[in-house]
Amino acid sequence: MKAHFKSDNLFRRASQVIPGGTYGHVTPATGLPRHFAHFCSSGQGVVFQDVDGNEWIDFMCAYGAVLHGYQNPIVEEAVEIQRQKGAIFNHPNEVVVELAEKLTQTIDFASWSVFAKNGSDLTTWAIRVAREHTRRTLIVKALGAYHGVDAWCDPGLGGRINSDRSDILEFEWNNLNQLEDMFKQKKDDIAGVILTPYHHAAFAPSTMPSADFWAHVRRICTENGTLLILDDVRAGWRLHEGGSHRFFNFTPDLSVFSKALGNGYAISACVGMEEFKPAASEVFLTGSCWNDAVAMRAALTSLSITAENKVSQNVLKKGRFFCERLESLAKGFNYSLKMTGPPSMPYPWFEGDVNLFLIQKFCKVASKQGLFFHPHHNWFISNAHDQDSLERSLQLAGNAFEELRSSGL
Ligand SMILES: Cc1ncc(COP(=O)(O)O)c(C=O)c1O
Repeated sequence: MKAHFKSDNLFRRASQVIPGGTYGHVTPATGLPRHFAHFCSSGQGVVFQDVDGNEWIDFMCAYGAVLHGYQNPIVEEAVEIQRQKGAIFNHPNEVVVELAEKLTQTIDFASWSVFAKNGSDLTTWAIRVAREHTRRTLIVKALGAYHGVDAWCDPGLGGRINSDRSDILEFEWNNLNQLEDMFKQKKDDIAGVILTPYHHAAFAPSTMPSADFWAHVRRICTENGTLLILDDVRAGWRLHEGGSHRFFNFTPDLSVFSKALGNGYAISACVGMEEFKPAASEVFLTGSCWNDAVAMRAALTSLSITAENKVSQNVLKKGRFFCERLESLAKGFNYSLKMTGPPSMPYPWFEGDVNLFLIQKFCKVASKQGLFFHPHHNWFISNAHDQDSLERSLQLAGNAFEELRSSGL
């Protein structure tokens, strides 16, 4: 691994003209330690290059946005044809209808779909649909759950005013008694419950739903006339080809997707049941470039690849192989590592590592081997992770454990 001269220099330049230099989970200020490169230059399949020419085997997949590998040739070919015709016009391109039809065929409970550019655009829109339909104000979410950058749910404190959260209630994931109590007290005011398919908080191991969680939440929502909104932005298509609700066997009222939907092209979708279509048509929705035919073509192509190749099942299987092998590799060096959450998007957790020191150090030594493992965020498996790249990564991870052990940690 070469030194990050160009990357560091770019970061210095960025800090002059971009607040914080870089933002979100890639900023060294809040998330990604500085031994990682700050800027990428290119990528193919599961490998990307940073601006200093280092090559990395990737386990973050653009934070989940890439499911079929960087520059997937089938997606890129379809995109190129669309690009030559144009991306944005005054009116939507016909691909929007094709994409809405495709999603309503793919997602069993959906009879309509709308599109935007980011997950946040539509998680925020979805809670407004719930409010419009129920004429109620309160929204329930899980404590520590991320649903986007808007003030009702973002993890930052900057620019926040008290009223941003005054209509948001939070319960601890899997604490159904707490949820029941909330409904006992406020049932006539609760418009919607928004949840991710399982709990994937940053800086903490992932938690799967308890056996009766989803049946219970569904029942509470139905009994109280409250909409159940599934935020499938991160997990979408890494658990089930038909949406993550199928993996956990329940039916939401609305589901929001983004990330893997366009295999790297900016697009999000909210799908819903017929009953909520009138409310959906009342809540204003638009944006600059939201009718981007190129991103929609990417999504359409990506969805076809997912269905034809059973990609969700594949990434679960590949992830299972990788996680089991990584855990036993760790054990061989006397570390107790647990890959929490579903194997297609595992969160690594060293037992007893409450201050995250060990995972940070492990990811640091792994970075010297050219492995992009994130210390505080769940990782992502893509369908481009083939047996060779997984085995090579395990071999490199073995070198990293060796260095970790010899450092005395
Ligand atoms: C579960 C979940 N919901 C919503 C969002 C927000 O999506 P976006 O970053 O596209 O606005 C994210 C992004 O990471 C997410 O993981």
